[in-house]
Amino acid sequence: MFPIVRPRRLRANDTIRRMVRETNLSVNDLIYPLFVCEGENIKKQIGSMPGVYQMSVDVIVKECIELEKLGIPSIILFGIPKHKDEIGSEAYNDNGIVQQAIRAIKQNTKKLMVMTDVCMCEYTSHGHCGLIVNNDVDNDETLKLLSKEALSHAKAGADIVAPSDMMDGRIAALRSTLDTNGFSNIPIISYAVKYASSYYGPFREAAESTPTFGDRRTYQMDPANRLEALKEAALDIEEGADMIMVKPALAYLDIIRDVRERTNLPVVAYNVSGEYSMIMGAIERGWVDGDRIIPETLLSMKRAGSDLIITYFAKAVAEVL
Ligand code: PBG
Ligand code: ZN
Repeated sequence: MFPIVRPRRLRANDTIRRMVRETNLSVNDLIYPLFVCEGENIKKQIGSMPGVYQMSVDVIVKECIELEKLGIPSIILFGIPKHKDEIGSEAYNDNGIVQQAIRAIKQNTKKLMVMTDVCMCEYTSHGHCGLIVNNDVDNDETLKLLSKEALSHAKAGADIVAPSDMMDGRIAALRSTLDTNGFSNIPIISYAVKYASSYYGPFREAAESTPTFGDRRTYQMDPANRLEALKEAALDIEEGADMIMVKPALAYLDIIRDVRERTNLPVVAYNVSGEYSMIMGAIERGWVDGDRIIPETLLSMKRAGSDLIITYFAKAVAEVL
């Protein structure tokens, strides 16, 4: 009890604070999202995401060389194809934009782990994450397309695949397709707990993937639910997921903690586009101090229990770590 116990003793200077620090942010924790588009010499800023760009393959390769120099271990690729159709054919075209990017990046970097987002929404004309049958996304038909997409990414050289569609049974489907085609060593990071969130708004501008009708609430989770998150995580673990993702991160730190306490797999937090845009908006107006608020925000995700963080801040943070 006070006056014998004085917690301030351990906060007296930076060195002692460093000694008793419980959580650290490392460059090893960071995964950087990149948007690849068709064309050449293209670097087009996303209006709602200052500092984030759609890039053509040549530009993205240069970016990846820089990221590797900064020590960032991994990127996650999102494709923006010119051609979109009802069945999202560009998603599983072996010569599609993501496949081209994977090959070029792998050729020009040494150690960078190239991860791909496996989903249909960037490739379908209607913008939904799967095949539409009778005005809704058909689960089991979509599994076939996702399997083709993941296999096509693996064949192009992807190191890790990350399905974000929220169809039931997709981890098992992807695992069996990869395994029967000689890719049993490719890990699957499951977007296991993905909420139907308005925090994805800026991403949909970046990826040009806003649904043309309805919304994603028949497949993404209800933000009110916690137990359902544990159910989703448990199912994906059973189906063979290698890591479990919770998305978004900031409004769902409790869920990250819950998942952390129930699995021994690495937990990944996705610090999504809307979280980035809110913070960047406030930094640009001078309302908050960017140098402090960005690491503090990422640290909250680590403290909640995530091992890795997918974040648009990765490059900026790696530059100062
Ligand atoms: C594709 C996908 C989305 C995000 C990652 N993968 C968008 C969505 O589900 O609408 C969101 C990422 C972000 O907001 O940064 N399904
Ligand atoms: Zn999608």
